[in-house]
Formats: sequence, structure tokens, C-alpha cells
Amino acid sequence: MSALDRSTVVAVIGAGAMGAGIAQVAAQAGHPVKLHDTRPGAAAQAIDGIDRQLGKLVEKGKLSAEARAATVARLQPADAIEALADAGLVIEAIVENLEVKRGLLRQLEALCSAECILASNTSSLSITSLAAGLAHPERVIGMHFFNPAPLMALVEIVSGLATPRALAERLYATASAWGKQPVHTKSTPGFIVNRVARPFYAESLRLLQEGAADCATLDALLRDAGGFRMGAFELTDLIGHDVNYAVTCSVFAAYYGDFRFQPSLIQKELVDAGRLGRKSGHGFYSYAEGAERPQP
Ligand code: NAI
Repeated sequence: MSALDRSTVVAVIGAGAMGAGIAQVAAQAGHPVKLHDTRPGAAAQAIDGIDRQLGKLVEKGKLSAEARAATVARLQPADAIEALADAGLVIEAIVENLEVKRGLLRQLEALCSAECILASNTSSLSITSLAAGLAHPERVIGMHFFNPAPLMALVEIVSGLATPRALAERLYATASAWGKQPVHTKSTPGFIVNRVARPFYAESLRLLQEGAADCATLDALLRDAGGFRMGAFELTDLIGHDVNYAVTCSVFAAYYGDFRFQPSLIQKELVDAGRLGRKSGHGFYSYAEGAERPQP
């Protein structure tokens, strides 16, 4: 099965951490990309951010100035969702909420052509449920990138009950053409990575709650002795506690309240306080402007 043609317009919805990263990946692969967000100005701001990131690569000699300019020229902010009507692939990366995502997919089904693929970057929600309200659920698929999307190679290609194998193969080939390492998975709660990652977060949070050690000690131990790239607290600060907590709640509910997946009250407190991690400047650690290392 061949990848999508580079002339295919890719629409990315949600210009947050993931949407911006996915838009960058698709534009660097050569697609015209339209980035849409309901927050006015967010898409343009995200494109400026991508330009700055690419500028750093140019300074380090890892990217040519021409490649930077060509990538940025392929990125277009779209304030109105109607501007996405000519997309051949839509990847939504909006808030992790089943009803909100279903509403968006219904809107897209009415707006985009019958051939347009509707992909979701959901971390945990059922692709089968997301597709269920549509007249053509067979056009919906999961395309789950990891944070930060331009750097992380893995992409889970997630098939719901209605997703045809040919569509999964098409997106698998497309992700490969974008320089990623895709893996096929069935739509099971949390898919593969977020399923195996749940105990990593949950047990770290239980250790913190039980007072075994503070988060900096636990993170250092997981990094230095465990061989992990990041400990659970710095990683969830990067992911965003609103996102990570929503994913935990969704997997917990999907497994009928299985204790193994029980969300942590510590993380709920952070969400309630608006301490969402790096993106809000404060999570388990503080990310004060100019601070060289986050302070716990
Ligand atoms: P974020 O909070 O950084 O960004 C979400 C963006 O979506 C915001 O800019 C918001 O204004 C926009 N938005 C919300 N509702 C919208 C709507 N109806 N239409 C258009 N824009 C809307 O969130 P983040 O971290 O980028 O996550 C987005 C999705 O990606 C979630 O489904 C999440 O589970 C998934 N994901 C997150 C990862 C992470 O590490 N943060 C990793 C992989 C997947």
C-alpha cells in the first residue's frame, strides 16, 4: 500500500504541544499543512514556534536555511474550520475528551470530501467509539504520535472495529514516509504504549504518596539506575497533567475501575490547581523563566 502523495493537504486540528509537532512533521515531509485551533491566534503562534525551533537547528548546522524556509512556507494557519475542506488527511489533536472529539469528527464528516481520512491523535480513547456516531465510521483511524512529535520515532496506527486494513496500511506507509517507525495496534484502552506506561506513572505516584522519597530522588533513580530517559514526574510534567490525568481516567473507566489503573489524587490536585507541568510553568517542578534546572 502506498503512502499519501506529498501534494495531499494535511489538516491538523489543535495547535497545542502535539498538534504543532505533528504539523511540523507533515510539513517537513513535504505536505501543504493547515493548522487550526479554536483559540484565536494559536495556530499562527504555533507556526512561529516551529519556525524558531527550526532556526535553532539551522544555527547548529543540522538543517539548511532553505529547508527551514520551505517547511515554514508549507504551514498555513486556518482560523476558520471551513478552510480545511480540501484536506485529504485530517489529524485531530484537541482535548482528550470523547464527546468533544466526536462532535469535531461529525463536523469534519460534513465538511470534508468522502475520501478524506479522519485520524485522531488520541492517547487512549476508543477509535471504535470515536467513529461510532458517523455515517462512515470506516474513515476514522488513530494516528498516535509521541511527545515531542518531531523527535519521537514511534507512531501507533490504531484500528477500530470499522477501520479497514487497507486504510491502516495506507497510514502505516505514510508514517514511514514521514521518517517515523509505525506500529499497528487494535483499539484497546491506552493502545500499547499508554497501557504499559500506566504502571510506571501509577507506581511512581504511589511511592510519592507513601513518602518513600521525593520526586527528584525518584526521577534520578529511574534515570540513573533504571535506565529510563526520564523519571515519571519529569515526564508527566512534559506530557501535561491535564492530558495524563484524562488518559488515566479514560483507561481506568475502560477497564471497569480495575485498581491497577486507578488515577492518583496527587495528580488530580495538580490539575485542580492549574499546575499542568511545563506548559503552565509549574507541575511537580517549577519552570520559572531563566531557571537552568527545574526546581522541585
Ligand atoms: P494541548 O492542551 O497542548 O493542546 C490542545 C489544543 O487543542 C489547544 O490549543 C486547544 O485550544 C485546542 N482545542 C481544544 N478543543 C478544540 C476544538 N474543539 N477545536 C480546535 N482546537 C481545539 O494538548 P496536547 O498535549 O497537544 O494533546 C492533544 C491531544 O494529543 C490529546 O488527545 C492527547 O491525549 C494527545 N496526546 C498528547 C500527548 C502529550 O504528551 N501531551 C502525547 C500523545 C498524544
